Amino acid sequence: MPQRLEGKVSIITGSTSGLGAATAARFASEGARVIVSGRSEKRGEEVVASIRDSGGDATFVRCNLDDESSIKALITASIERYGRIDNLIANAAATATASGEKTAGILDMDNEILEGSIATNIRGMLWLFKHSLPTLIDAARPEKAETSSIVAIGTSGTRNGAPGMPIYFATKAPVEVMVRSLATEFGGRGVRVNCISSGLVQTESEMKTMTEEFRQYVLDLNALPFFGQPEDIANACLYLSSDEARYVTGATLTVNGGVSF
Ligand SMILES: NC(=O)c1ccc[n+]([C@@H]2O[C@H](COP(=O)([O-])OP(=O)(O)OC[C@H]3O[C@@H](n4cnc5c(N)ncnc54)[C@H](OP(=O)(O)O)[C@@H]3O)[C@@H](O)[C@H]2O)c1
Repeated sequence: MPQRLEGKVSIITGSTSGLGAATAARFASEGARVIVSGRSEKRGEEVVASIRDSGGDATFVRCNLDDESSIKALITASIERYGRIDNLIANAAATATASGEKTAGILDMDNEILEGSIATNIRGMLWLFKHSLPTLIDAARPEKAETSSIVAIGTSGTRNGAPGMPIYFATKAPVEVMVRSLATEFGGRGVRVNCISSGLVQTESEMKTMTEEFRQYVLDLNALPFFGQPEDIANACLYLSSDEARYVTGATLTVNGGVSF
C-alpha cells in the first residue's frame, strides 16, 4: 500500500516538542521528508534522531518565528535540503508551556508577555505564510488537481473562553480568519489552506502543568470520556495534508473530544 505522503516535503514549525513532534513522527512514518523546526536545537535534534531511528527522513532547521529573517532562512534551508516544499504545518506558538514562554491574565499582563505573544502567534504566523507560499505554489499542479497545503493550528478554547487566557486566546483566534482568507486567494494556484482547532491535548508539557482538578474539569465537559493525545492532532494534520483532502480548503477541523473548551 502506498504511503500517504510519499515523495512530499513537509515543514512542521514547533516540532521540537508536543503536537509538532508527534506530527513530524507521523508524517515521516507516511513517507514525508520532514523539516523539524523550533528554537531549541537540542530538542529538535532529539526528534530528528528518533525519526531516523525508525527509518524516516528528517532534518532540523532552527527558526525563531519572532524574527522575519529567521523565517526566510528556514524556507531557504528547507529548499536547499530537499528541493521543494509540499506541506507546511504552522504549529509553533507562544503557549504557556513552550520553553521560556509566559502567559497571564489581564491584570498581570505586562509588555513582554503581550509583545511576545503577538510577535509569535500573529506576526510570525503571517511572515511564515508570506515566505512559504511562493514555494508551495511552485509545488502545486492545479490543472491536474495536484495541490500543496498549509495546515495552521488554532485553539478551540477561543470559542467559549477560559479564565486567565485572554492574551493567548486573542493571539490564537486570528488563525482561523487568516486561513479562510488565504484559501480564497491561493486556491486557484493549487495551495489548500486549512485550520485544525485543537482542544486540550495531553502533551508532555501540558501534563506537567495541569492539576488533577483541571484534568477532571475538562474530562467532565468532554463528549468523549477520554483525553486527546498528540497523535490525534497529528492524524488530523496528516489527513488535511494528504491527497485525500485535495478538495478541502478554507476549512476548520475541530479536534477536541466534542467540547469547545
Ligand atoms: N496542547 C494543547 O492542549 C493545545 C490545545 C490547543 C491548541 N494547541 C496549539 O498547538 C500548538 C502546539 O502546542 P503544544 O501544546 O504542542 O505546545 P508546546 O509543547 O509548548 O510546543 C510549542 C512549540 O512551538 C515552538 N515555539 C514557541 N515559540 C516559538 C518561536 N518564537 N519560534 C519558533 N518556535 C517556537 C516551541 O519550540 P522551541 O521551544 O524549540 O522554540 C515548541 O516546539 C500551538 O499552536 C498551540 O497553541 C495546543
